Amino acid sequence: MKKVGVAILGLGVVGGGAYKILTERREFFRATQGVDIEVTCVLERDPERVRSLGVKSEIVASNVFEVISNPDVNIVVECIGGVADAKGYVFDALNAGKIVVTSNKELICKYAQDLQRAAKRTNAGIYYEASCVGGVPIVRTLLDGVQSNRISSIQGIINGTTNYILTRMTKDGMTYEDALAEARKLGFAEADPSADVEGFDAAYKLSILSSLAFHTRVPFSKVFREGITGISGEDVEYGRGLGYTLKLLAIGKDTERGIEARVHPAFVKNTHPLANVDGSLNAVYLTGDAVGDLMLCGEGAGALPTGSAVVSDVIFAATHEGNRYLAFKSTAKAESDVRFVSDFESAYYFRLTLADRAGALSKLTTLLAKNNISIVDLVQRPSAADSATVVLVTHTTHEVSVKNAVARINTAGIAKVGSVIRVLS
Ligand code: HSE
Repeated sequence: MKKVGVAILGLGVVGGGAYKILTERREFFRATQGVDIEVTCVLERDPERVRSLGVKSEIVASNVFEVISNPDVNIVVECIGGVADAKGYVFDALNAGKIVVTSNKELICKYAQDLQRAAKRTNAGIYYEASCVGGVPIVRTLLDGVQSNRISSIQGIINGTTNYILTRMTKDGMTYEDALAEARKLGFAEADPSADVEGFDAAYKLSILSSLAFHTRVPFSKVFREGITGISGEDVEYGRGLGYTLKLLAIGKDTERGIEARVHPAFVKNTHPLANVDGSLNAVYLTGDAVGDLMLCGEGAGALPTGSAVVSDVIFAATHEGNRYLAFKSTAKAESDVRFVSDFESAYYFRLTLADRAGALSKLTTLLAKNNISIVDLVQRPSAADSATVVLVTHTTHEVSVKNAVARINTAGIAKVGSVIRVLS
């Protein structure tokens, strides 16, 4: 039986999960996959992690050169994260001709072209299922499941931390601060949660997924990004009253005007499948011209779900002749030829405060009409003695029209704009 040796760099949550799956299911993989995959080396500085996983001391390397010069290592699994150490280690491994499996979205997103070149030079492969949406096999679905389609859109909830926070705000009326504190306590949010709550994590993943879906490089710099830190319970509640659930959405579209890629909070109609993806769950909803609409849903983080994605790549690499690269069309020419849309189209939710007197609402709707913004739904509630809160949802319009309208509403003193939130249309 074919033997394959694996080294794991980093035994944190993901690396630890991958180690457990590979060691505990070795016999199962021998029986079902016809290959004997052995963890022959690990690189981990924290002795407690090594001890708690029961790793034999003789396979613990003291530096990366021991790993890549080890003839019993065919595949290097990088689960360190970030680009500080991981980047050099991955290039060292590729330069040494080792196949690389990585869960590192930032690395893939920022260095795709260089990684691809390095892998091709030594005929090594590079695999990254675990970099996007944890246990949900979205990379393989795009590469091997729906490749006969032209994908027109990919929409998803691809960050579990923010989905947990927004779910607690929506279902249980929690404030943003309390929901974030709870997410931290439960281990969903990091001590510094900015990568998640400011949308960076989702933007890295969207850059990778839309590059795969649309067969062209969608660089991180072209992904519009807005996080959830400005979201108020008041808006969540008004949206709920109108039949919407608030989510942090990642949206990629291949349109006639060009490609758009954006991460921002958005209201989703309760009848849409994404509205019911709650807690720390993730989901990707894609539309292809042959397959139609398709949704994959599951755990986007955690030791075993993300370990499952890592090990799926290890098994793929161990059981296939020939190597796979990044599958991005990533030449400089391809990038400069692509048009990216920043004035995207969306429906919008507005919350405004205006004077509660004759003609105030009419001035507002006239100004919206002048900017080509048409209203679908509107509610008004008295707020202070002589003012009212107006919440409205628009038909699909342009981002630029909304920006112009908001500026004019404020400067002309027509109303005070409390918030503007995009609505999935
Ligand atoms: N921090 C991410 C999340 C998981 O909350 O979904 C890793 O990408």
